[in-house]
Formats: sequence, C-alpha cells, structure tokens
Amino acid sequence: MSAGPLSSRYRTAFITGASTGLGLAFSQMLLKEGVQVWGTARDPGRLPACAGFHPVRLDLADGDRTEAAFREAERAAGGFDLVINNAGFGVFGAYAPTEFEAWEEQFRVMLVNTARLAHLGLRGLLLRKGGALVNISSIAGEFSLPYQPVYNAVKAGLSALSESLMYEVKGTGVIVIDFRPGDYRTDFEGSVRRPDQPGLDPLNAGRMARAWTAFEKMMRSGPPPVHAAQRLRSALWRGRSGTVRSGRFFQAVLAPLLARCGSLALKRRVQETYYGL
Ligand SMILES: NC(=O)c1ccc[n+]([C@@H]2O[C@H](COP(=O)([O-])OP(=O)(O)OC[C@H]3O[C@@H](n4cnc5c(N)ncnc54)[C@H](OP(=O)(O)O)[C@@H]3O)[C@@H](O)[C@H]2O)c1
Repeated sequence: MSAGPLSSRYRTAFITGASTGLGLAFSQMLLKEGVQVWGTARDPGRLPACAGFHPVRLDLADGDRTEAAFREAERAAGGFDLVINNAGFGVFGAYAPTEFEAWEEQFRVMLVNTARLAHLGLRGLLLRKGGALVNISSIAGEFSLPYQPVYNAVKAGLSALSESLMYEVKGTGVIVIDFRPGDYRTDFEGSVRRPDQPGLDPLNAGRMARAWTAFEKMMRSGPPPVHAAQRLRSALWRGRSGTVRSGRFFQAVLAPLLARCGSLALKRRVQETYYGL
C-alpha cells in the first residue's frame, strides 16, 4: 500500500509550523517524497533552506495576514494538493486564575484562524477536485490534559470540524484527515506558555506541579517526530478520509479502545492517576 512516491498524488503542499517538531518532520518526509513544500513560521529564518522548500512568514495570531500569506503562497504554487494545519502551542495553567487573554489567543491561533486556513485550503482543493486537508489535532481532544483546558477544547473542536468536513467531501475527490498525535518528543513542551496565576489556591498549586512533572516526563519519553511523519505518509497514501491516531501503543491504540468500554467518570479517574493528581 505504501509503495511509490507521494508526489504521484500530491505535487504541492502547504504546512503551518514547519520550523520545528512534527511540522518539520512532515515537511522533510514530503520533500523526500518529491513534494514541493510551502512551509510557515513566524520567523522564516527558522525554516529549512533546501531545494523544494518555500519559506512563508505566517503568524496565526493575525487572521487577515494569515489569509494574505496563504493566498500569496497558493498563487506561487499554482494551487495546493495538500494543506496541513499543524502549528500550535500549549498554555499551562488553572482556568480561572489565568487572565482570559492567554486563553483567547490560544482559541484565536489554534481554532479560529486554523479553521480559517482549513476553509481557504478546502475551497482550493474542491476547485481542483482532489487532494487532502489534514488537521493536526491531538489525543488530548478525547483525553483532556489537566491544566491545559483550552488546548483540550481547541483540539476537540478541530477534530469535530474535520469529522464534519468528511461528510461534505465525500465523492468530491478530496479527503480530510483528522490526525491525532499522542506525546511526541518535540519542542512543544519547551514552548508551553505558563502565565502568572494570581490567587492560585495551594490545592491546585500542588496538583499543577504534579501534572507538569508527569506531562514533561511523557513528552520527553515520547517517540521521535519521524514516527508521526511515517503514519501521516501511510494515511496520505491510503487516500481515504478518516481519523488517524499516532503515537505510543498505549495512547494511540489501547486507551481509546478501553475508553469506548468504560464510563466518562472512569476515564477521568484514570487520567487523574496518569497525571498524579
Ligand atoms: N508533540 C506532541 O506530543 C503533540 C501531541 C499532540 C498534538 N501535537 C500538535 O502538533 C502540532 C505541532 O506541535 P509540535 O509538537 O511539533 O510543537 P513545536 O515543536 O513547538 O512546533 C510548533 C510549531 O508551531 C508554530 N507556531 C507556534 N505558534 C504559532 C503562531 N502563533 N503562528 C504560526 N505558527 C506558530 C511554531 O513556529 P514558530 O515558533 O517558528 O513560528 C512551530 O513551527 C501542534 O498543533 C500540537 O498541538 C503535538
């Protein structure tokens, strides 16, 4: 099933957050497959300089500029066969003590403007009657991470958006992939924002410290990003819409399977134990 280069199906790709981690690994995999890649970062100096890679400056915090950057890249590429919404970041904190601006920015970058790119990308793909829209969600959309409430919310929202679009693209030649990674060893944990928490109560301060230790440990012991890139390659080659979970066996296979058999309350209790709460 995985024989042949992806470039026989996808000539051009647009990918956000291509400077590090999963986005860089996805870009490198696509370049190796002969795909021309338009990859973004807020500072294009952080992007790879190599044949077939076209750097794009893009900050998802600004919706209008995001749209302009996408349209310019689309014109230069002559259209995209593959659009990957990958960029994202974490905000770690208790919901009430953290100023809402921090949460609002995460909603804007990772849901509102990511959905805007999905909208633009899908319009182009439908016009071309082929290609793929890939939204990088997270297992966190179904197994909430403690003290990352809006991260969980945006990922659940993005997965719901992808699932809805799967109905719409049926029979059009376009596919939509809801890609849900578990913990991978990337720069993610290092770039998690930890805003001030004025008025945080001692009970939550203790729980937060334990949750952070567990989160760090899991991120650092996760598989390398190249593993996720191989999973994405297989999904793109398969050429069918669907949800793809990727990561350690426990997170990507066993936990979702067990969760289907148990209650939501039990799922929360298991998460509490997992994160030392
Ligand atoms: N690593 C994991 O375990 C894991 C698990 C599940 C899901 N994910 C998801 O996978 C995606 C990639 O994460 P990663 O682990 O590869 O993290 P990473 O190494 O920290 O990379 C994040 C990327 O997002 C870009 N980015 C951050 N804020 C941005 C903004 N405002 N506008 C545009 N680009 C922005 C960064 O680019 P610049 O900083 O260079 O602009 C960077 O390229 C994220 O959506 C994340 O939620 C990761």
